[in-house]
Amino acid sequence: MANPKFYLTTPIYYVNDVPHIGHAYCTIAADVLARFKRMEGYDVFFLTGTDEHGTKIEQSAKSHGKTPKEWVDIVVGRFREAWQTLNISYDHLIRTTDDYHKQGVQKLFETIRANNYIYEGDYEGWYCVPDETFWTETQIVDGKCPDCGRAVERLKEKSYFFKLSAFADKLLEHIRIHPGFIEPETRRNEVLSRIRQGLNDLSISRTTVKWGIPVPGDPERTIYVWIDALINYITASGYGTDEGRFKTLWPADLHLIGKEILWFHTVIWPAMLMAANLPLPRRVFGHGWWTVEGQKMSKSIGNVVDPVELVETYGVDAVRYFLMREGTFGKDADFSLSAMIARINNELANDLGNLLSRALAMIKKYDGGSIPRAGGRESADAEILGMAAALPERVKTQLDNLQFNSALEEIWTFIRRCNKYVEENAPWELAKKAESKTRLNAVLYNLAESLRIIAVLLAPFMPATAEKMLSQLGLDKAEEGTFESARKWGLLQEGSKIAPGEPLFPRVKV
Ligand code: MSP
Repeated sequence: MANPKFYLTTPIYYVNDVPHIGHAYCTIAADVLARFKRMEGYDVFFLTGTDEHGTKIEQSAKSHGKTPKEWVDIVVGRFREAWQTLNISYDHLIRTTDDYHKQGVQKLFETIRANNYIYEGDYEGWYCVPDETFWTETQIVDGKCPDCGRAVERLKEKSYFFKLSAFADKLLEHIRIHPGFIEPETRRNEVLSRIRQGLNDLSISRTTVKWGIPVPGDPERTIYVWIDALINYITASGYGTDEGRFKTLWPADLHLIGKEILWFHTVIWPAMLMAANLPLPRRVFGHGWWTVEGQKMSKSIGNVVDPVELVETYGVDAVRYFLMREGTFGKDADFSLSAMIARINNELANDLGNLLSRALAMIKKYDGGSIPRAGGRESADAEILGMAAALPERVKTQLDNLQFNSALEEIWTFIRRCNKYVEENAPWELAKKAESKTRLNAVLYNLAESLRIIAVLLAPFMPATAEKMLSQLGLDKAEEGTFESARKWGLLQEGSKIAPGEPLFPRVKV
């Protein structure tokens, strides 16, 4: 039987900006899940991409003396490099300037129009050029965009409208039947109460925007950039170009997005799919935002954190670890170098790094570098063995709930318990007496086996570190890294050679 599939997405990022930790955060979270699901045996399709149309991008191209296409080709390179640096295992990066995307967008537009959910009318509203968003009279605040605070312009034009108003009841019903559709729950409640206030039809074409996908049969107008962008999730999986692939992959199992774009993903996007008689994504999760030392991260403040620079200084796994460990997914979190360095030194260098180097140093010293014989289990081992047996399921549960920091906390509780186990059993004392040799071996075996399980479970978060750990334990990651292998105690073979190496994480001087 074929493996079950798991299709997950990040938002597609605007290319008028270079990647920052906000983008990296969502993409790393998606990567952790993609890797974990692959370890579990799923056929994963992990999609990320870039949102390349619209006025803002036209403007930023102009300010750099480039055509829009030249400009997006340059910036998309920055995203690709950032994802490579961060060790992101995406399966596909969609660009909204790709031809197959354009075909799919036009097909969906035509389908929805044929189903009578698109009509022509006059649009008049307040438009925020930088945000490419129309606002109603009641939404604007003192003549400014409620989102970014910049001045809005009055704009009137002929437009195509999407009959969003027709979908309020169906959406409410869908959310009621599928409580897991919008997460976290607080966000679901916000969306619900907004839908209950009624939905307005949505203008979905622009005459003012030249850099976009033309409306089929009306080349003077382009499709509203948000509509173009949302459709990426189906065009990337074959809609409009490869129906067989589309049927296998769609619906997406998970859209990971930031909290501020939840409305687009949980109201407008599902309504569009309903209008085309297509299935809805199974789950949409809106994560929180990073502030930097308590402040909003912004270009004007000049505190935008570049993930690639962080990797150059602290290493990729330390950055991945920190972003997944510091905040709760779904809530806002604060970035500071001091918090990151504290975690690197305390949790990565001390708790984890020392456990590995101590255990391996003792196996080298007392057993000549070979995995010792597993021994009879004493009561002192019961807790370690019990925790090791329960850990994989606990981590899985947290990850299924997208609680990355709790998953890591589960692993660290075990790491700290293992460190305590070393102190309690004092192998250096056991080594002094010949009659304690069996016990010494058992203690060291238990430590090595615990470290193997820790490495496998850490692999989605810190792939390079996990690989180093497994190879220092004398194992080959490719064979040993499945989720199943973390659930089995006793896979390390007596007599196999360990290969102690460099410390996993050098301490950062403060
Ligand atoms: N192009 C749209 C998304 C279209 S998806 C069909 C877009 N792009 S964006 O580049 O502006 O933002 C992409 C993501 O980055 C959003 O999910 C947003 O929440 C996230 N973040 C931007 N700043 C952030 C932080 N400071 N912290 C965490 N995430 C943040 O919106």
